Amino acid sequence: MRKINVFDTTLRDGEQSAGVNLNLEEKLEIARQLERLGVDIMEAGFPASSKGDFQSVQQIAKTIKNSSVTGLARAVQSDIDTAWEALKDSAEPRIHVFIASSPIHMQYKLNMTPDQVVERAVQSIKLAASKFPQVQFSAEDASRAELPFLARLVEEAIQAGATVINLPDTVGFTTPHEIGNMFAYMKQNVPSIEKVILSTHNHDDLGMAVANSLAAIQNGAGQVECTVNGIGERAGNAALEEISVALNIRKDYYKADTGLTLKEIKRTSSLVSKLANMPVPGNKAVVGANAFAHESGIHQDGMLKNKETYEIITPELVGVSESSMVLGKHSGRHAFKDKLTELGFAGDNTQFQQIFDAFKDLCDKKKEVTEDDLYALMTETMTDAIQESYELQTVQVNYGTNNIPTAAITMKLPTGEITQEAATGSGSVEAIYNTLERIIDGPVSLRDYRIQSVNGGGDALAEVYVQVKYDGIESSGRGTAHDVLEASAKAYINAVNRTLIRKAYGQEQNNKVNI
Ligand code: KIV
Ligand code: ZN
Repeated sequence: MRKINVFDTTLRDGEQSAGVNLNLEEKLEIARQLERLGVDIMEAGFPASSKGDFQSVQQIAKTIKNSSVTGLARAVQSDIDTAWEALKDSAEPRIHVFIASSPIHMQYKLNMTPDQVVERAVQSIKLAASKFPQVQFSAEDASRAELPFLARLVEEAIQAGATVINLPDTVGFTTPHEIGNMFAYMKQNVPSIEKVILSTHNHDDLGMAVANSLAAIQNGAGQVECTVNGIGERAGNAALEEISVALNIRKDYYKADTGLTLKEIKRTSSLVSKLANMPVPGNKAVVGANAFAHESGIHQDGMLKNKETYEIITPELVGVSESSMVLGKHSGRHAFKDKLTELGFAGDNTQFQQIFDAFKDLCDKKKEVTEDDLYALMTETMTDAIQESYELQTVQVNYGTNNIPTAAITMKLPTGEITQEAATGSGSVEAIYNTLERIIDGPVSLRDYRIQSVNGGGDALAEVYVQVKYDGIESSGRGTAHDVLEASAKAYINAVNRTLIRKAYGQEQNNKVNI
């Protein structure tokens, strides 16, 4: 059985998805979960792209011990130097240097000749290898490169000190047959190919990213690059959960497997979906809500007789299980702390106390507090820890079919002062948002509003996502509460607070760099 290394790029290529803006705490939370999942390498960002990216790569590099942390760099000295500053304290410093390799990219994007590209790649890899023990080189747009040129570039890159060679399908153009040929060609035509690990990185523009990744593995790739839920630039990247489960379930065919702790998959998917504000479609392979639901009578009958009739993946394999009551009103602090630790809690005493208070409050309103509820409370507290500026104190809404909805809100301002306001709206949520806009001294325009429940059931926690434009900056926000109106207010305030943080960073924190 071949071991395939998993290189997760959720925090770099995944974060390049339109509308995704993760803050430092959220990136750290995802990084810790990726470590629990057991990814071999995680790409934490692109340090030279912004102050925010630099800081999060540095923090993740210092925090994560059991996965190798890497950062992206263009083939230029300043990017490599910046990446070193961000990554030098990691357990195993690793850099990912890239330059374009297809005729169209070299001519129009770089305005360089093929010889100049080889020369620049060699210089950069040599510089990177003088600092980093592990150097990955990516020949961007490799799937549209000319094979003899690609083989030359790869050989020179290995000679210069690259330890991993990645051949990306940057624009999601290739097919399984073609990518298989590209890897087989490199194996046959690059003299030093056995000295390095070959890596595959695929985009999903034609819906073939996972199939292409598996074809590359069959033809010699020992590392696969992917993102959780397949999030990423345009149509996204190859989905980590689909590749790892396909390899596991079809070991007989691929004779290869990853070392991932597959039962962490569902939780990782939910966390990324929540923090990236990108819902997982119900019919999504492996992690969709319907992935294990059997609707038709014939299928249900078959399942009752023998599960293997219709079930090729067990829900338990990927950590999908019936949510059951875990703790209740009478649970003490110790039992609660143990449960949080099991869920990956890594906060301080203040954060613990906040989650414990929210839990006790929830116990008064909800019959059964499940693991999913605790996880929702925990992520909300952990990821908002450093950014509260406005703080909701109370919200009251007057609604009736024949009345004009009115909201009254008490709020703590960033100055610490407590203020009260009221306003009307055409609905309850609008009345709340009009009131908040007055307090915040808007204008704040609402671009998107979505609501869902943490679990089923009439007493479930509500989760609201909003996208707002405030002070010229678009930000998303999240709020969880037992009541939908309170969750709506919290989400809006969270989005405004995130705007304030971004302004404090001179808007740099979430800038996306064109690469
Ligand atoms: O898609 C791509 O080519 C990339 C590279 C930077 C590896 O993301
Ligand atoms: Zn990519």
